[in-house]
Amino acid sequence: MTMSQHDQATADLLSLFAPGATLDNEELVIGGCRASELAASVGTPALIIDESALRARARHYRDGLASRWPNSQVMWASKSLPCTALYRVMHEEGLGIDVAGGGELVMALSAGADPSNFVLHGNAKTERELEMAIAAGVGTIVIDNFDDIDRLERMVPDVQAVLVRVMPNVDAATHDAISTGHSNSKFGLSLDDAKRAIERLGASDRLRLDGLHVHVGSQILDTKPFTRAVEAIAGLGEFRVYDLGGGLGARYTCDMQVPPIEEYLDALVTAAHEHLPSSARILIEPGRSMVAETAMTLYSVVTVKHGPTRSFVAVDGGMGDNLEVSLYGQAFDATVANRVGRGELFSLVGRHCESGDQLIESVALREPRVGDLIAVPVTGAYCMTMANNYNGALRPPIVMVNNGEAHVVQRRETYDDLVGRDVAWPGARRRSSD
Ligand SMILES: Cc1ncc(COP(=O)(O)O)c(C=O)c1O
Repeated sequence: MTMSQHDQATADLLSLFAPGATLDNEELVIGGCRASELAASVGTPALIIDESALRARARHYRDGLASRWPNSQVMWASKSLPCTALYRVMHEEGLGIDVAGGGELVMALSAGADPSNFVLHGNAKTERELEMAIAAGVGTIVIDNFDDIDRLERMVPDVQAVLVRVMPNVDAATHDAISTGHSNSKFGLSLDDAKRAIERLGASDRLRLDGLHVHVGSQILDTKPFTRAVEAIAGLGEFRVYDLGGGLGARYTCDMQVPPIEEYLDALVTAAHEHLPSSARILIEPGRSMVAETAMTLYSVVTVKHGPTRSFVAVDGGMGDNLEVSLYGQAFDATVANRVGRGELFSLVGRHCESGDQLIESVALREPRVGDLIAVPVTGAYCMTMANNYNGALRPPIVMVNNGEAHVVQRRETYDDLVGRDVAWPGARRRSSD
């Protein structure tokens, strides 16, 4: 590799990290913190979030939507990275919160966010969760099925604002597991059923139907599915509120093209001007595109192995902290964080007992050695969400970096946590005394 090729490859790699990421003596520096110092202070694996990138992204969405459609609100889809500190940041930046279920509701409340600015989702909201939402004063509950209506009519003491989730028959080009707007989806009501729900809600004196909700999927790289969804629900009548969901994709690898936020908002707002009442309030629920690119995961290399057909770099994490790869085949990129650049091709694999525990099938890493640090950028969304204890792995800490300071905002799990929920049961005692 010539010097200029090396520089270009390094610049391309850096473009995947949060803005402001830089090098110091070939080492990755993020939020003003060197990768090696982060690893020394918090250990690996760890999710590292650049706080100013996160806040900038929230403002970008908030101001971008408000300037195009003033009667609007960005509701952060908190399933993308449910952690109290993140709820707090989004609340401080003036965003509403999309919570799906009781756990996310509790975290949002514990961050001090305003429940009147929450929207509650779920295709199978339990009575307990609805009870919690009503008691907390959640602003809007999204009706996903007729049982939601039955339950809420029984449970709501006075008046509750609701939206009806509509299945718009839009098939977005994304992985099947994260495509939600097609006619086969488990989410929402078909256009015909939505008409019946709207009629029923029109006669309810407890459920105030504010409008419609639509969400066509995640990691969508083209604006057309979003605009087609707006068009599809427009025929259901005129409403005060339209929640147009989330779904914009993130840029995971150097060769990926993702519509910028401006292009996405332009497309949505143009469709809204064409099809929706001009007085309507518009909500959007970005998750992945809000948080993914603001974070990276830092691992340590445990072993480097040269097999008969390929060479492996195995790290101290894997599908325990990143299920995006094995669930959706999401492509990621990576670099040796203490020697940024490209080199030979390796399979970057995890420590879990499955051949499918592979973070990247083939990635050019620069002279990886045992003890090196590996940084995988764009892991902010859905990685910690789905983190698990496979093989007794401890879920990693979440660390916020800013201006050279690092703060652990969620600590690493401990082995005590792993056994901390165990409850002694009589059968065990009986058998041990046999
Ligand atoms: C109802 C709803 N809104 C918003 C989102 C966020 O989507 P994304 O993270 O792709 O922006 C999701 C996630 O799938 C969702 O189910």
